Amino acid sequence: MQQSLSGKIASRTAVVGVIGLGYVGLPLMATFHRAGFPVIGYDVDPRKIAAIHKGENYLKHLGADLVSKMQTGAKFDATADMGRLGEADVIISCVPTPLGHHREPDLSYIEKCSDDIAKTLRPGQLIILESSTYPRTTRDVMLPRLEKGGLKCGKDIFVAYSPEREDPGRKDFSTQTIPKLVGGIDKISGELATALYTAAIAKVIPVESAEVAEAAKLLENIYRAVNIALVNEMKVVLDAMDIDIWQVVDAAKTKPFGFQAFYPGPGLGGHCIPIDPFYLTWKAREVNMPTRFIELAGEINVQMPEFVVRKVQLALNDDGKAVKGSKVLIVGLAYKPDIDDVRESPSFELIEKLEHLGAHVDYNDPHVPQTHKMRHHNLNMHSVPLTQESLDSYDCVLIATNHSTYDWQMLADHSKLIVDTRNAMAKVKSPKARVVKA
Ligand SMILES: NC(=O)c1ccc[n+]([C@@H]2O[C@H](COP(=O)([O-])OP(=O)(O)OC[C@H]3O[C@@H](n4cnc5c(N)ncnc54)[C@H](O)[C@@H]3O)[C@@H](O)[C@H]2O)c1
Repeated sequence: MQQSLSGKIASRTAVVGVIGLGYVGLPLMATFHRAGFPVIGYDVDPRKIAAIHKGENYLKHLGADLVSKMQTGAKFDATADMGRLGEADVIISCVPTPLGHHREPDLSYIEKCSDDIAKTLRPGQLIILESSTYPRTTRDVMLPRLEKGGLKCGKDIFVAYSPEREDPGRKDFSTQTIPKLVGGIDKISGELATALYTAAIAKVIPVESAEVAEAAKLLENIYRAVNIALVNEMKVVLDAMDIDIWQVVDAAKTKPFGFQAFYPGPGLGGHCIPIDPFYLTWKAREVNMPTRFIELAGEINVQMPEFVVRKVQLALNDDGKAVKGSKVLIVGLAYKPDIDDVRESPSFELIEKLEHLGAHVDYNDPHVPQTHKMRHHNLNMHSVPLTQESLDSYDCVLIATNHSTYDWQMLADHSKLIVDTRNAMAKVKSPKARVVKA
């Protein structure tokens, strides 16, 4: 089994199936296709499959021709039919790993896709999990479902974990150039998965086990969450001392070693940083281990929208206005610049909190023309145009996301009051608006 699959990988004839064609799965499928592998994409969302068949890319930051380019070269297909999973020699799962209502890991997507794979599992298949999750998920949650029918890992089938490190919107790294960690359930599985990624990805780092790879991914994201919390706490403290945190970070980062710059913001967003720490804290309870440090970071980060709203309140107060009845424009709905991903974006909380206080709130985001129903929010709003006239009608403009297409000078020249959570106004010369950092 091992020989036959490694031969197919070496000759790039192994069919690579990718389950979950979202922010992670779609560029991954394209990367294997560019490397010359025949690929099949699987997704339960029929709109994504229909778009792919039409050659359309629904993730704009990846470039309009990402999907149409796959229609030439090696075999390429996409389907919502999980009964076709047996056609792939390698199956890579990139399904979501969100939190449940009590901030507990929701592994239902991994469970469902493992059960789907099991239905057509055949000897010689390599199954790889890429979703972010707590250590031992591959071994304790995925593997038993795969082996249920009698096929054994390391002999008949092969199973590994390789964390996705995608950073949508980043220009200096792509799926192909971000180094890839790979850990197998056993030695053979690890070697096969390493061979597969080496054929498509610039640098592959094999690690001892699936668990090391799973835990490394959580460490990377928790490292960010904790450092962002630190700089957010510094922001609040320095704000009370009337010292600009942005200038302080810029000064500190001139040290050539021992310091890495992190920046404050209105709160955490995205599918990883606000969520992954809870995967570890939940699992740590099983072994009776406290995770006070990580939880404290979470507490500080979740307080940020409240801090920003308070700054808006005080800034309006200085203008003799109450939040109640004031018109506020949120600039940027996506959780970070130049993408359309709004998952866990703090902008939603800012809107809800300000509306709760009686403000009339609009938003502008060139990447998000309207809001959709989400797990915790249903705002039902449309992006309003950003013009010189419209800016003049707002009592406060709150900068939440610094998309690179924004004309900051125009905002500064035509707004009355700007509350800036991203230091966007630093680039502007002599703003006519009163600028308050938050
Ligand atoms: N977005 C990121 O920047 C990023 C970065 C690193 C890691 N991750 C991790 O990667 C995983 C996927 O994240 P994402 O951002 O790509 O999610 P996403 O929501 O963009 O995509 C997931 C896709 O899976 C599909 N899906 C759900 N259940 C399915 C099933 N049973 N069978 C087939 N398809 C199914 C959904 O329709 C969706 O298209 C998560 O674990 C996430 O934490 C994401």
